[in-house]
Amino acid sequence: MAEIVVVSDRADAGALVADEIAALVARRPDAVLGLATGSTPLPVYEALRPRLAGVDVSRVRGFALDEYVGIDPAHPESYRSVITREVVEPLGLDPARIRTPDGTLEGIEHHGEDYEEAIAHAGGVDLQILGIGTTGHIGFNEPGSSFASRTRVKTLTQRTREDNARFFDSIDDVPTHCITQGLGTILDARHLVLLAFGEGKAEAVAGAVEGPVTSSLPGSAIQLHPHVTVVVDEPAASRLAYADYYRYAYAHKPEWQGL
Ligand code: F6R
Repeated sequence: MAEIVVVSDRADAGALVADEIAALVARRPDAVLGLATGSTPLPVYEALRPRLAGVDVSRVRGFALDEYVGIDPAHPESYRSVITREVVEPLGLDPARIRTPDGTLEGIEHHGEDYEEAIAHAGGVDLQILGIGTTGHIGFNEPGSSFASRTRVKTLTQRTREDNARFFDSIDDVPTHCITQGLGTILDARHLVLLAFGEGKAEAVAGAVEGPVTSSLPGSAIQLHPHVTVVVDEPAASRLAYADYYRYAYAHKPEWQGL
């Protein structure tokens, strides 16, 4: 099962996950990171800055989870721009080694396959950072996504477009489609780290961690993975039936185990 870590706030979550990533990069200078966008991973990227300062990160590679379809890559809210602004530039990564799925319309039918090939060529993702949507999506795998799915074009739910409207001038500007790693792609990563903050995520977190494994709640796919760490604040943990047990297990875990 996943290890559930209940932290006091976002900064603690960021520090915990950034420690793990910094240790990975120290062990493996050409580590392959799976990068999420949105608000959730920002404390991780922030906490990584001091930890990677002075570290040779020139060989670190990265793959974003998703991108909007049809958005100008130069648009400030394209995930290419977000990853450049929040991850590549502040951490001093080599932009040529960090990829996002190609959301340009021309040739879109092949972009998913190309992305899969690039991930395979890199040897797979070592550590995949995940947020979770209020619909239960991971990546942009909305309810109904196949657990075997690979990188492909998906239609965003209206709920997700509403949730993401805060990044745009109006909801009409939020793209209707995305290109996202599939659940099968995500499950191939060697370590999944899912973060969630705030009460608005409590239901999705409970469904993903404790609910039935169902494509109606795509985040529940994490239950099929052998190495998952779920890092949540108290409000996001508030609907977990076994929260006390998770706290107890984490407080008593043997030191040699790591995350
Ligand atoms: C982003 C992604 C999404 C988000 C999710 C939560 O690359 O794949 O699954 O993680 O929509 O978004 P935030 O973090 O903005 O609440």
